[in-house]
Amino acid sequence: MASLAQKLTDIVGDIFEQNDLPKELGEVRLSDRPDLAQFQCNGAMAAARIAKKNPREIATQIVESLSQNDIFDKVDIAGPGFINLNLTDAYIAAHLAAVADDEKCGVALTETADTVMLDYGGPNIAKPMHVGHLRASIIGDTLRRLYSFKGYKAIGDVHMGDWGTHMGMIISEYMMTGQVDRILNLDLDDDTVVDDFMNELTALYPQASAACKENEDRKAAALEAVLRMQKKEEPHISIWQKIRDASVQSMKKNFAALNVYFDLWKGEADVNDYIADMVDDLREKGLVEESDGAQVIRVEQDDDKKEMPPLILYKRDGAVMYGTTDLATIVERMKLFDPARIVYVVDQRQHLHFTQVFRAAEKSGITSPDKTVLLHAGFGTMNGPDGKPFKTRAGGVMKLEDLIETGREKARARLSEANLAADMDQDERENIANIIAVAAIKFADLQNQRITDYIFDMDRFMSFEGKTGPYLLYQIVRIKSLLRKGEQQGLDIKLADIHITHDSERALALALAEFPDAFDTALRNDMPHYLCEYVYKLAGLFSSFYGSCHILSGDDQDVQASRIALSLMTQKTIETVLELLGIDVPDRM
Ligand code: ARG
Repeated sequence: MASLAQKLTDIVGDIFEQNDLPKELGEVRLSDRPDLAQFQCNGAMAAARIAKKNPREIATQIVESLSQNDIFDKVDIAGPGFINLNLTDAYIAAHLAAVADDEKCGVALTETADTVMLDYGGPNIAKPMHVGHLRASIIGDTLRRLYSFKGYKAIGDVHMGDWGTHMGMIISEYMMTGQVDRILNLDLDDDTVVDDFMNELTALYPQASAACKENEDRKAAALEAVLRMQKKEEPHISIWQKIRDASVQSMKKNFAALNVYFDLWKGEADVNDYIADMVDDLREKGLVEESDGAQVIRVEQDDDKKEMPPLILYKRDGAVMYGTTDLATIVERMKLFDPARIVYVVDQRQHLHFTQVFRAAEKSGITSPDKTVLLHAGFGTMNGPDGKPFKTRAGGVMKLEDLIETGREKARARLSEANLAADMDQDERENIANIIAVAAIKFADLQNQRITDYIFDMDRFMSFEGKTGPYLLYQIVRIKSLLRKGEQQGLDIKLADIHITHDSERALALALAEFPDAFDTALRNDMPHYLCEYVYKLAGLFSSFYGSCHILSGDDQDVQASRIALSLMTQKTIETVLELLGIDVPDRM
């Protein structure tokens, strides 16, 4: 199934070809000036350079041929040679009829159905999840949903940080204070025990970390504990296991509250057993060097503009590092899943790390670039109003749980102010407050081009006006209640032929037809904000249509049926986008 823009690209491309010009120059996209035209093709400019002619002359040639085709209402030339295209209403209506009951709203499935692995979330066990993990989780989960919608075999992996120095600090702390038995006997079937344990760890880690900074002996004890843990010695590994189990339980609750899911609950520790063989293999290939007692692999290239440090495989004391586990994780992923693409949704500040890891993987033949794409889909920082990384009022990191709770509080207040959900019982109201809170937080994050930083402002995110999650929920609930009302009036709520009788219907119809393009752009760039922009525009166009056309009343039955169909299609498209963004939709509010 092709989108309108794709169909037009084909048609215009053929005409370019008939005129001995490259077919690709016939690319058609939505017009930058929707007030002047629906679609545009800018290919005449490039064609003129190739054919050594005047662009307007070429455009005139193309437009003459296009005018013969009766799908166009108007074709004309603007400026130096832009070709503007307007379709007939009948053609737009026929196109919509063809996608109306398509399960994917017109998105064409991938032909390859390759496996795509997504690495996101990345929480560290024994530390509370904080807002830094929010972006990784939200963006990553959305990308997983996009790949899967397109027909890829998408696999989401949480890739927990569970094998690093911070674990040594905590394990040594428990050992030095004689608490090993207590920890090993904790009953994790009891939720309050888990919660208390997590709170204890939250307080313990900063203490232990500060102690290690101040005291060399304390630090040495922590480093020794990591090493013993990595060698799976007792009691280190059992303490580690207890912490990991409790952390996973607590993380699962947090992620479920955000509608974020994973196929794999793996972590750095899971690849420990691959490391020795991997390093042996690298050594055989002559790629391992010693540097300051550490074992490293060089990854610099001739064209590097900045210094590119080597990737450390083993530290001088024999412990493995973040880069070691990441490289071994690629070994495991290739062995178990053979992905065509691995997307790492991780803070942009880790870009150097991923450059090192990817180069090491390719240099050593763990992956080959023509078979597997390794991509760091980095994201910017969520900042506070002062433009610095977001902190709580007290200056600490905000726990994810607390952030969602703040959202719920605001949502409850907003519901009362707007006099919404007034007739609902406590449970339903609470459920809606939760849906609004999550929609507000997620949409606020996803609508930013992911590399940019953004300012956290819960009040703005929570508004029912503007480009926000709550605005979209409000719009979709309005459509649903409109259609319910129609049903109560005995109207047939179903898809029907589209009749375009008003500008706002045409604009809405064109926007509905645009969904596959917005989707593909988001997926191609691994950037969900394209979908956010699209859905916001669609909701706005529905609003204008709703404001200017009678949907449930009217004399002409065909027009009424068409308006109901447009409403149904809008509902389905908005719901599809929100589902892709991991945002729930209530029936009413
Ligand atoms: N645990 C890391 C952190 O908190 C993120 C892990 C990202 N994924 C990866 N494969 N390195 O920064």
